[in-house]
Amino acid sequence: MESMTFVLFGATGDLAKRKIYPALYNLYIDQKLPQPISIIGLGRGKLSHFDFQEKVKESILEFSRRLEHDASQMGEFLNAFRFSTLDVNKTEDYQKLLKLVKEREEELQMKEHRMFYLSVAPEFFDIIALNIKNSGLGETNGWKRLIIEKPFGHDLQSARELNEKLSRAFDEDEIYRIDHYLGKPMVQNLEALKFANPILQSIWNKDHIANVQITASETVGVEQRAGYYDHSGAIRDMVQNHMLQMLMMTAMNLPYKMNAAEIRNEKRKVMEAVRPFIKEKVKNHIVRGQYASGEINGQLVSGYKDEPGVNPSSQTDTFVAARLWIDNPLWSGVPFYVRTGKRMKEKSTRIVIELKNSLKLLYNQDQTVKPNLLIIDINPDENVTLQLNGKNPLNGKIEPVRINFSCEDLNRNRLGVPEAYERLIFDALIGDSTFFAHWKEVELSWEWVQPILNAFEENLSPLHEYQSGSYGPEAADFLLAENGFKWWLDE
Ligand code: BG6
Repeated sequence: MESMTFVLFGATGDLAKRKIYPALYNLYIDQKLPQPISIIGLGRGKLSHFDFQEKVKESILEFSRRLEHDASQMGEFLNAFRFSTLDVNKTEDYQKLLKLVKEREEELQMKEHRMFYLSVAPEFFDIIALNIKNSGLGETNGWKRLIIEKPFGHDLQSARELNEKLSRAFDEDEIYRIDHYLGKPMVQNLEALKFANPILQSIWNKDHIANVQITASETVGVEQRAGYYDHSGAIRDMVQNHMLQMLMMTAMNLPYKMNAAEIRNEKRKVMEAVRPFIKEKVKNHIVRGQYASGEINGQLVSGYKDEPGVNPSSQTDTFVAARLWIDNPLWSGVPFYVRTGKRMKEKSTRIVIELKNSLKLLYNQDQTVKPNLLIIDINPDENVTLQLNGKNPLNGKIEPVRINFSCEDLNRNRLGVPEAYERLIFDALIGDSTFFAHWKEVELSWEWVQPILNAFEENLSPLHEYQSGSYGPEAADFLLAENGFKWWLDE
């Protein structure tokens, strides 16, 4: 990999501390960072280079998964870091930054490859991109790239406006939109599971699959983020991005070739085929909920409306369940159920594929033959489980048996699996955009979500309360029951 400059906006923020520095350090230890590299942190405050390096070191000691930090290696790593004060609106600060970038490029005899990572609130994305362009920071003899994180817009229109502004400074193939779910090993594994195993590939369609269930449940509440969350809700915070990305990864057809362009092309086709709702019909397919007080892991927790910073009459959704239909030849007639919520019974991200159970009538009526299930645990466990049926030798009854493999089976050297941010930052450094959200995917997702936002805003869809520590409102069970199914997470 060729040497480069890594410019980090928001260098004193929480994400940088918890995720970005530890990820860079782990990459460095694994020899996956280019040498030399110049890393320039930007923040509003004043900080000497040395104090900045100390902050970076503290965050690594606290959050890095790699414990090797012998003094010489750590010293060499920290040496790559410099700090510059920057007010995003001040053009002279970008000039100062450009000067520092160039000085370091000369000092280290580096190519002019420049990565800009915007770890800042999204309202600053456009002004920063504009200033990168106007200041000359974006004029390089090498490549330039931009990494940004969700939220990409607040609704369809604002997402389009934002994209339009970004595209004045960066081309689409220079923009790396992080959706950290795409960095999760099991989400990345979906493609191999489906396409590297003929046994699964051959059943991955409407002839064999009865329904697909994608759940991301959390036990945490809104935490310190009410200011953001109360205006977003689960629909913007989780469904528009993470849940739909998992849906695309699960439902995409075999790409013509395994490369970023083809995979993204297949994902786009899935989103294009998801049946749109008109806002009046949203209530028939989408359940929205809000947590009330309850008990989680033996602890009493308060309801959403009583959380600090939340409007006491808030109508914000902290839970969403949806039934989607993908109108293409591969999936027509197969319901996809998606649900996500805060303050639920357990932290679990999982995909359950339920197979059709057409042979169940072969057996006597006193035998209940369960369907085959393929269960993909994404988080916190990373497992693939196949539920089959077998005959119990003791009583001759058909009973479900499970075969299972965990990610650890594939990680024989037990070094610890790279975290999502590590994988994604590395991919961006080498210019591989496979596991980043393409603008088209983002736009199509907003297009699908927009009538739901409208229905919620106009109260066309009831807001169900659910007890903290539960699996969400009962209405979410009816969504499946209407088609003769049930959620499998609750087993
Ligand atoms: C974030 C959301 O994108 O994902 C949070 O903003 C949510 O509200 C988080 O808690 C969940 O991520 P994970 O990796 O813990 O499942």
